[in-house]
Amino acid sequence: MQFQIPKGTFDILPYGTDEAWRQSALWQYVEGIIRNTAADYGYGEIRTPIYERSELFDRGVGETSDIVSKEMFTFEDKGGRSISLRPEGTSSVMRSFVENHMANLGPVHKFFYIGPMFRYERPQSGRYRQHHQFGVEAIGVGAPEQDAEVIDLLLQVYRRLGIRGLKVHINTVGDPASRIVFRTALMEFLRPHLPNLSPDSQMRFEKNPLRILDSKDPKDREILQRAPSILDYLSDAAKEHFEQLCRILDNLGITYQIDPKIVRGLDYYNKTVFEVISENLGAQSTIGAGGRYDGLIGSFDGPDLPGVGFATGLERVLQVMAAQGAKMPKNGHPCIYLIPLGSEARVQCLQLATKCRHNGIPAGIELSSQKIQTALQNAARLEATYCAVIGSDEMAKGAMQLKTMVTRETREVRFEELLTFLQKESAHAHPV
Ligand code: HAM
Repeated sequence: MQFQIPKGTFDILPYGTDEAWRQSALWQYVEGIIRNTAADYGYGEIRTPIYERSELFDRGVGETSDIVSKEMFTFEDKGGRSISLRPEGTSSVMRSFVENHMANLGPVHKFFYIGPMFRYERPQSGRYRQHHQFGVEAIGVGAPEQDAEVIDLLLQVYRRLGIRGLKVHINTVGDPASRIVFRTALMEFLRPHLPNLSPDSQMRFEKNPLRILDSKDPKDREILQRAPSILDYLSDAAKEHFEQLCRILDNLGITYQIDPKIVRGLDYYNKTVFEVISENLGAQSTIGAGGRYDGLIGSFDGPDLPGVGFATGLERVLQVMAAQGAKMPKNGHPCIYLIPLGSEARVQCLQLATKCRHNGIPAGIELSSQKIQTALQNAARLEATYCAVIGSDEMAKGAMQLKTMVTRETREVRFEELLTFLQKESAHAHPV
């Protein structure tokens, strides 16, 4: 029986796929830029388990959210505890922050993470059951400068990756006081339209009416055109926060659009919410999203500290890069590829390859007993810079004919001089 990968997941391969976004070299490149950028902004890496007690997400993301009510991979462990694969990172980071008493270590904490997240969604391009996020969480600062910093960090990562043409949409969902008043106004407006709303929106009406605002259903959207705007119901504090954020973004030269219909699907958001949109992504056009979640840490029985963050889906990042023809690094290739003929030569080649490898020169060796032709094709496929066939003549002479793959030039190099030669050549090719 041939096994197939589970639906909604994918392999990331060193070669053997035409889909650029599934090549491991590209993931490593993107992750490298992310790590460097996060360091420039003073964010330290946090790694939490990929599963948690299910209650964590019930409380953090919200029981009525789609993520928790429909999309979690939940199972009972052998101890009868309900466990869920993490659908997102923020709740886990807050759990860890509280559990490790990190608030005692200073007033401000800035974390980033890269890792897989799991959502049982209907798979389609840009939407997977296992996807990967780069996310950040900044804890301790309630001022809008902190919101602006995380937005700028996200945009800086995209810029460094060469991604163009993104749009930033921002909104505020107010503080809890503003939301209570707005919720009542929105429900009053929607009530007469209830029979005409989509079944999903009808279900959300009592439990989570604000979520109806970002319904993608065309009929819902038409009704919503006349809906009240949260921006008219903000408390003075929430309004001031949002206006200041807009001013700071202007000041930093960040272009954005205010979109009062953004609410995002996670219940912990308070005040600022934002999304970054790419037209290269089709239906799943949000490449990254985030917001402020003052009150969340308190709800985990931690100190009452404010927080703000975002996450961006790496699949979507890589797909936009591929669509825009951004710089795509290739996998590393061997400097030399050695092809032995016979068992004595195999030992010699392994010795030579090992010496190169121990000295930081990437070396390949043909250990399968294929025909020379196939071995040479392997050297070409791996894009080796040099290659050499070593048989009885070369063994007797203690020297090889080293071929430059691109120019096909050959030169004789003694076995004991191979490493020095390659070191000199690669220093020449990549001056330090
Ligand atoms: P989110 O908006 O649910 O936010 O997801 C963040 C990003 O993850 C999305 O913008 C998208 O790029 C990617 N994403 C989500 N689901 C999928 C999927 N099924 N397949 C592929 N990509 C996906 C959060 O998760 C929040 N924790 C973000 C945050 C951090 N807010 C504050 N701090």
